Amino acid sequence: MLGTRLDLDRIHTARRRIDPVFLDTPMYSCDALGRGLGCAVSVKLETANPVRSFKGRGTELVTSLLAEQGRTAVVCASAGNLGQALAWSGRRRGLDVTVVASRRAPATKLDRIRALGAELEVVDGDFELARERAVDIAQRRGIRLLEDSLDIETCEGAATIGLELAGAPFDTVLIALGGGAMATGVGYALKALAPGTEVICVQPGGAPAMTRSWHERRVVTTESADTIADGVAGRYPIPAVLDDLLAIADDAVLVQESSIIAGMRLLLEHAGLVVEPSAALGVAAVLEDRDRFAGRHVVTVLCGSNVDLDAYHRWVRD
Ligand SMILES: Cc1ncc(COP(=O)(O)O)c(C=O)c1O
Repeated sequence: MLGTRLDLDRIHTARRRIDPVFLDTPMYSCDALGRGLGCAVSVKLETANPVRSFKGRGTELVTSLLAEQGRTAVVCASAGNLGQALAWSGRRRGLDVTVVASRRAPATKLDRIRALGAELEVVDGDFELARERAVDIAQRRGIRLLEDSLDIETCEGAATIGLELAGAPFDTVLIALGGGAMATGVGYALKALAPGTEVICVQPGGAPAMTRSWHERRVVTTESADTIADGVAGRYPIPAVLDDLLAIADDAVLVQESSIIAGMRLLLEHAGLVVEPSAALGVAAVLEDRDRFAGRHVVTVLCGSNVDLDAYHRWVRD
C-alpha cells in the first residue's frame, strides 16, 4: 500500500524472527457471543502466551535485531504490556531492559515487569510523562529507545496478526487503538492481502486523542485521559502513525466505559475469557451500534489479559 511505512515483505521477514509461542494464535467463531451481540463473532486470542498480550510479537522482532547488532541495553516507556513483553524478549537474549511506567498503571503489570527481570522506573504522572523520561534515560545512557508505534518493528510485529487473519472469511476486524501499532500493523496486512476487509479502530471516549485525530486528519492532543482501558490511554498521537492510520483504517469509533465493562462481562460469560479492558473494546463497539454490525461477521482481537483481579471482580460483578 502506497503512502505508509509498512511493507509486506518486511512483515513476512519479521514473522521468522518471532518466537513461535506468540504466533498462530487461536481464532474461532464464538456462537454464544454472536447470539448476544446480534452478528457472527470470531475472536483472535492474543492472551495465551507468556506475557498475556500481543506485544511480544513486536518485542521479539526488536530484541532479535538488537542482539544481532551486539547492543546490550534498551529502554521503553510502557502502559504495562509493552514493558512485560520487552522484559521477556530481552531477558532471553541477555539484554538489560529498563521500563518506565506510570505509578497509576495496574499493580499487576508493574509487578510482572519486575518479575521478568527488567529495571522498572515509575513516574508520578501518566504515560506521556513516562515517554519523556524514557527519552531522557536513553540519551543519558546512550542506549536504544524503543518507542511503541513509532518504531516500525512494533507495527510489523503486530502486523503478523494480520497475516494470520488474512486467510479467514470475515467482513470486519475490530482493533483496539492506543498508539496505533496494532491497528496500523494488522490493518495494513489485511488491506494488502484481503482488501475487502473493513478495518475499524476502537478507542475509549475517555482517551479519544487518536480517534479525534483520525477524523480531523491532523494531530489532536488532549489535556487528560480518563478510562479503565489503561493500555490505550495516550494523549499525544504520533504524526507518522496517524498518517499510516489515515491510509489504512476505514473508521475509528469511541465507546463508553459502561460498554467496555459490559464487553468484559460478555467475554467471561459467553466465551470463558478473562480480558483486560482494552481487549473488550471491540465487543463494546458492537454493543453500541448493533445495527451497523447486524448480519456481518466480525473478528475482534483480544489483545491482552493483564488485569488487576480486584478491579476485574468489581467490574464483572456489579
Ligand atoms: C491490551 C492492549 N490493547 C491495546 C493496546 C493498544 O495498542 P497500540 O498502542 O498498538 O495501539 C495495548 C497497548 O499497549 C495493549 O496493551
